[in-house]
Amino acid sequence: MAHPNSDIIPTVDGLAYGGDYNPEQWPREVWDEDVRLMREAGVNLVSVNIFAWAGINPGPGVWDFERLDAIMDLLAEGGVKADLATSTASPPPWFSQRHPETLPVDAEGRRLNYGARAEYCPHAPVFQAAVVEMATRLAERYADHPALAMWHVGNEYYRWCYCDAAADAFRVWLEERHGDLDGLNRAWGTTFWSQTFTDWSQVLPPRISAETPSPGHVLDWQRFGSDALLKLFRSEADAIARRSGKPITTNLMVTGNFSRLDYHRWGEHVTGPGRLVATDHYLIPEHDDDIEAPAQVAFGADASRGLAGGSPWLLMEQSTNSSAWRGGYFAKQPGDQLRHSLSYVARGSEGAMYFQWRASRYGTERWHSSMITHGGTDSKVWREVVEFGGWLKRLAEVKGSTVVSRAAILLDFESAWAAATPGQPSADMATYPEIRRWHAALWRKGVTTDLVNPEWDLNGYEYVFAPHLYVLESDANLRAYVESGGTLVVGPYSGIVDRDDHVHEGLPGALRDLIGVRVEEFCPLPKGATITLDDGTEGHTWSEAAHPTTAEVVASFTDYPATGAIFHRHLGKGQIWYLSTRPTDLATFLTNIGLQSDTPETLELVTRRHEDGRTYLFAINHGQTPTPIPAEGQNLLTGTPWTRTDHLQPGASAVIRIA
Ligand code: GLA
Repeated sequence: MAHPNSDIIPTVDGLAYGGDYNPEQWPREVWDEDVRLMREAGVNLVSVNIFAWAGINPGPGVWDFERLDAIMDLLAEGGVKADLATSTASPPPWFSQRHPETLPVDAEGRRLNYGARAEYCPHAPVFQAAVVEMATRLAERYADHPALAMWHVGNEYYRWCYCDAAADAFRVWLEERHGDLDGLNRAWGTTFWSQTFTDWSQVLPPRISAETPSPGHVLDWQRFGSDALLKLFRSEADAIARRSGKPITTNLMVTGNFSRLDYHRWGEHVTGPGRLVATDHYLIPEHDDDIEAPAQVAFGADASRGLAGGSPWLLMEQSTNSSAWRGGYFAKQPGDQLRHSLSYVARGSEGAMYFQWRASRYGTERWHSSMITHGGTDSKVWREVVEFGGWLKRLAEVKGSTVVSRAAILLDFESAWAAATPGQPSADMATYPEIRRWHAALWRKGVTTDLVNPEWDLNGYEYVFAPHLYVLESDANLRAYVESGGTLVVGPYSGIVDRDDHVHEGLPGALRDLIGVRVEEFCPLPKGATITLDDGTEGHTWSEAAHPTTAEVVASFTDYPATGAIFHRHLGKGQIWYLSTRPTDLATFLTNIGLQSDTPETLELVTRRHEDGRTYLFAINHGQTPTPIPAEGQNLLTGTPWTRTDHLQPGASAVIRIA
């Protein structure tokens, strides 16, 4: 498949390396040292001006670009490119004080104070106009600056607001989606609890109310919030695109439960021509305490590649060590930084960027790890930063190649939101943690997996997994995939509702015919409980009284509901597995469906390939034993040949250009 964005940052030579650079926090003499150290480490791209609105525009109608000019000139002279941010993620106090209506209001009706960042209402006209003016001025001033490589709009969009302006914008959005008030009443099912609207003015954001809010209301509010932020992003991006041909991006969040945005709907606006998918990914050990760090890294990377539609993407932020916002400190082990950063590159990133270049001496993130830490350059972190910079230089020819994946996991943001709306049969049937669990199980089997939207073209994948697809309108795309030869694995409580969160008739609704199983009722399990199957395996969280129609029963529950638990069906040239519980041991299930692995779990192997056939095998040994890598070629990291009998030492990595 041709990838629309194969050269996502054309003006950066080779792969990108660097981080957020905040020189405004430092005296001028430190800047010179910064550039010297950037060159020492091989840094060729830094993100600047992310939180610098107060400096550029220190008061109403006052503009001062002197400092930013100096930073951009310094970078140009030092041979470092700039990912130039629009600084609109954090309005300064003067702005918020002058325009209090731009401060966000929470669901309880409290207008929040300024004093931190992202304190804005995306629906406030004054704020909307201010960000377009800022983007316009920056584009006019820097479009042709020699340091400019790309534009960075805002920062990690996520702000929600429940104010009256938000209510007005919500009504406009709802009218567009549902046509008229009757359409809205139908979609939200307002006959339930007598909530029928007779006038648009009655429709509000889901502000705090006396009882559980309507799921349809909550779901549309999520969609609206995501669309509103996309509109805000686009207003800046369009203003820039009219004045500059350089790539435009914003940093998406793929950590944990993503952000609150439907990144698939952001679609072409971050993947189309002149745009690029850039993501921030941080490890949260306590978030997925049963998923090892390298598998978490792989998830962030595979999710990012999925958002980019398989094209190369850019890791915009990661950490060399702890992230201060985690509420605690954890230290990466020696070499982790190298292995993690290489894994992102193996999985399609066109480089590795960090938050941040130099640790701040003050402010909330003064203890966030960085490329230059408070411990200085005589440190493990700095030595590894320099070493990785050297690796990236030697990997320059990998730029523009794409990742070869064998499997896909289906990810639908709307479905994940809908599954979390109030009144679910089990509050424990969360989507993202289950997707991460399946991804990690596949990672341990050495299977490279894309995270893709259920409506996208799935042909070409050997296996497609739908661990939890609560919302599904139609089985058409999945059916076509299976009929043409794919293997589809569907987890429980999938295909249940339509896009308005209305329960399909007959369970499991949209998937009933395809999987050949009829569900009589759900039997969720208490937290921590398991249920035994007659093949000796166990399920957790959920079970169903499920009966085969056209499928075969492969394993059954030994206790109530004492029906089928694992089902299998051939269809066309392909096959389908249906699970009416969440298997505790995914590894065994994957082995049973043909995904055996003859390499150790701790050996990460990923392939990137150019359209002309040049192929690179990335091998990362996260384990404790030397492991053979049966490949023939050149190890780009060392510049030495690699032969079939060579072993990769514990903790070591190789990138083999296949001969
Ligand atoms: C986010 C932000 C950065 C910084 C880091 C810290 O990714 O974009 O500004 O706050 O988190 O981890």
